[in-house]
Amino acid sequence: ARPALIADALKRASARPSGNWFVVAASREVRTGGPPFGRTVGGAEVVLWRSAAGELHAGPGICPHLGAPLRESRVVCGTLVCHWHGLALDGGPFAGWEPYPAYDDGVLVWVRLDAVGGEEPTRRPVVPRRPAAGGALDAVCTTEGRCEPQDVVANRLDPWHGAWFHPYSFVDLTVIRAPRGEDDDAFVVDVSFRVTRRCVVPVRAEFTAPGPRTVVMRIAEGEGAGSVVETHATPLTGGADERPRTTVIEAVVAASDRPGFALA
Ligand code: FES
Repeated sequence: ARPALIADALKRASARPSGNWFVVAASREVRTGGPPFGRTVGGAEVVLWRSAAGELHAGPGICPHLGAPLRESRVVCGTLVCHWHGLALDGGPFAGWEPYPAYDDGVLVWVRLDAVGGEEPTRRPVVPRRPAAGGALDAVCTTEGRCEPQDVVANRLDPWHGAWFHPYSFVDLTVIRAPRGEDDDAFVVDVSFRVTRRCVVPVRAEFTAPGPRTVVMRIAEGEGAGSVVETHATPLTGGADERPRTTVIEAVVAASDRPGFALA
């Protein structure tokens, strides 16, 4: 590993604007007709749900009446109904409850939290380039780490760590090109993914950080070219917390020229 190189790349990533957007869930986790979805972001409770027509709503996860946790409430015909005393929220402003801007990019759901982000807000999040939706498959997994979001970004930006710490997944890793600065800020690596003990798939991949909490691995050449693995690090705890925790949401959006891939 080359710590100075990673530190410089992390510094540049941290300086990129996020517009105060945070990834909170997979799109399919917030279902039309389903229960509300709750996530803690930067110490703030957030609740999300969908209207009967599928429109995404988000706002503070605490009921403005007497503080019930809204993630435990019910959605009735697209309206969030508090399970303590029945206050109904249709997604619009209510006394003591202001909705948050929310965005569904088709794979992930984002919420804009200006008080947590503290940056200049933007109308939309920075969504990484992905394979076209029609021919691609996606999967999202969520884990939690006892660290800061920046630790997750530094870890994912470090191409050497994959071969050292995950030899069961990666073999023959060679860094072809390290970042050269803001205008050419990608790690390019040749690596083989281990499918079985004896079967590996060699690809050329590039790692970039389009935002302060996002790292994207894109397959540039080889099997599945254009496919991406996005890592989104969303702070779970607030800035003053002595034991920071981060929600790590990883999305794989895979494409392949193989016949029948999209039907798999
Ligand atoms: S706490 Fe929600 S309606 Fe009373």
